[in-house]
Amino acid sequence: MVRFRFAAILCLAGLGCLIATSAPGPQKLTSFDSRANALLAKMTLDEKVGQMTQPDQLYLKSDADIANYYLGSVLSGADSDPKEGNSLEAWANLIDRYQKRSLETRLAIPLLYGVDAVHGHNNILGAVVFPHNIGLGATRNPALIEKIARITALEVRATGINWGFAPCVTVPRDIRWGRTYEGYAEEPDGVKELGAAAVRGLQGAGLADPLSILGCAKHYAGDGGTAYGSSTIGPHLLDRGDTRLDEKTLRQIHLQGYLTTIRAGVGSIMPSYSSWNGLKMSGNKRLLTEVLKEELGFEGFLISDFAAIDELPGDYKHKIAMSINAGMDMVMVPERYQEFIARLKEAAQDGTVPMARIDDAVRRILRVKIAMGLMDQNHGQLADRQLWKQFGSAEHRAVARDAVRQSLVLLKNEHGTLPLSKSAKRIHVGGKSADDMGNQCGGWTISWQGQSGNAMPGGTTILQAIKKAVPKETKVTFALDGKGAAGADAGVVVIGEKPYAETAGDRSDLSLAPEDVAAVDNMKAAGIPVVVILLSGRPMILDKVLDKADAFVAAWLPGTEGDGVADVLFGAYKPTGKLSFSWPRSMAQVGVHRGDPNYNPLFQYGYGLSW
Ligand code: BGC
Repeated sequence: MVRFRFAAILCLAGLGCLIATSAPGPQKLTSFDSRANALLAKMTLDEKVGQMTQPDQLYLKSDADIANYYLGSVLSGADSDPKEGNSLEAWANLIDRYQKRSLETRLAIPLLYGVDAVHGHNNILGAVVFPHNIGLGATRNPALIEKIARITALEVRATGINWGFAPCVTVPRDIRWGRTYEGYAEEPDGVKELGAAAVRGLQGAGLADPLSILGCAKHYAGDGGTAYGSSTIGPHLLDRGDTRLDEKTLRQIHLQGYLTTIRAGVGSIMPSYSSWNGLKMSGNKRLLTEVLKEELGFEGFLISDFAAIDELPGDYKHKIAMSINAGMDMVMVPERYQEFIARLKEAAQDGTVPMARIDDAVRRILRVKIAMGLMDQNHGQLADRQLWKQFGSAEHRAVARDAVRQSLVLLKNEHGTLPLSKSAKRIHVGGKSADDMGNQCGGWTISWQGQSGNAMPGGTTILQAIKKAVPKETKVTFALDGKGAAGADAGVVVIGEKPYAETAGDRSDLSLAPEDVAAVDNMKAAGIPVVVILLSGRPMILDKVLDKADAFVAAWLPGTEGDGVADVLFGAYKPTGKLSFSWPRSMAQVGVHRGDPNYNPLFQYGYGLSW
């Protein structure tokens, strides 16, 4: 409470409140137990099991099922938009409609509605999209990450949603993994502080703050440590694979982000699809219950990953019982919720899952709901439409632009190529990602895997930003393939990866695409200074282009605000970004880290030039 009042005073200063969340620490969730226990005592088994069930709205047979099954939560997976469309209004109407159903139930326990707001409220048209975590890791700036998360929470609240499946505190150890960009850094020291900052931002001055959302640290634990070739899905490389480490090393590398996010008060944690030494995390009692809850004192609740329990052995009832008995509190079903409910009830009735475990799970969920104020009359249950005017606003975009410029890592700058002169007569721009909002935003943007092109309105592509940055006397010409540069004062080529997300993004080879190499070659053939900007979810093998680049910038997946790139190109901002991932010379160096005698990357962890 003290914490809330302290921040509330500072909130009078508008956006300034976004960072005013320093000490004292978050209120203990167990302090809500007397209310949680009183409610629990009134609940039937159906009501308890309902609280533990999370379908995706896409699969709800009818709105009435929210009340029929006393559902505790609903999610929209990354491709699950309202049937009415992907507008702010359609989302707010959908969530309000569902929330009203839950309020009609006997105990009127509101829903937690979850989405993957992982770099802004990225699934909704017109939201501000921030750099993916790999770029934020390069900023090494917790105050900025907290501010970004605060804005994300506001934009999420504008749609009535109250839970974001973020931050991802993975420590990706092998950049061939398609989720590398969801991680802040390849070392735990680059993840710990930033993950906690994101929780402070999302959960705001306290969970009861109607402008905060519930955070979710994921994917516990070792999601980024899987052995190459151990994956259980897709191309069978790394995603959902097996992390083969002794417990001491697992703790040193992969648990660190949980220590700090728990201390920051994170209310939910998502166990990983991956396994630890052959046992899927969804059924891993040692790590879920003994370590996380008993030893680390996590008081919130565990939400499974999307259908993750389906990967456990045995029939459905066995999978459910194994996971709940291991310590899972809520299950992201997401489709067969009626079957899930029937089997979990059966397991509770025949003792396969002890009632004490069911009660513990429900108590944890209720604690969080009560802490969020959801059980208090008219307290943030419905969408706050007053927030719409701030959704995708110029103020929010300004913070994203700042994040972009702080995230850029300057890897090479010969002959003072950068900053570019604004008095150049002509700048020639090329490359497939120069004018492509989709490539700039990457996966988890509008759709799960993301898409090239211009699916996300608002914001500025890098080409548009360059045009805005130069005086009107400077001509900016553009050719996708980089041809036609002769006579220009400088060339800027924007190349890199096309959007992808989990599973599909796993790669065995991180060489640049032939069209990217060709675009750099074509630009260089004109004999002008060439700046290469790489948009990618991870370091890539640069042997075919680095020598031809006079300056080289790693811009990661910057999101909607291309202006931040132009700020650095033209010297309005001196580069400050430092690599949070080692940059290998060749594929042979992938997965080799600081401390290894063979560590000899092209650019070391922490590298980054300025001028
Ligand atoms: C991902 C999670 C995500 C969930 C819900 C899963 O496939 O692994 O990170 O939160 O889907 O969309």
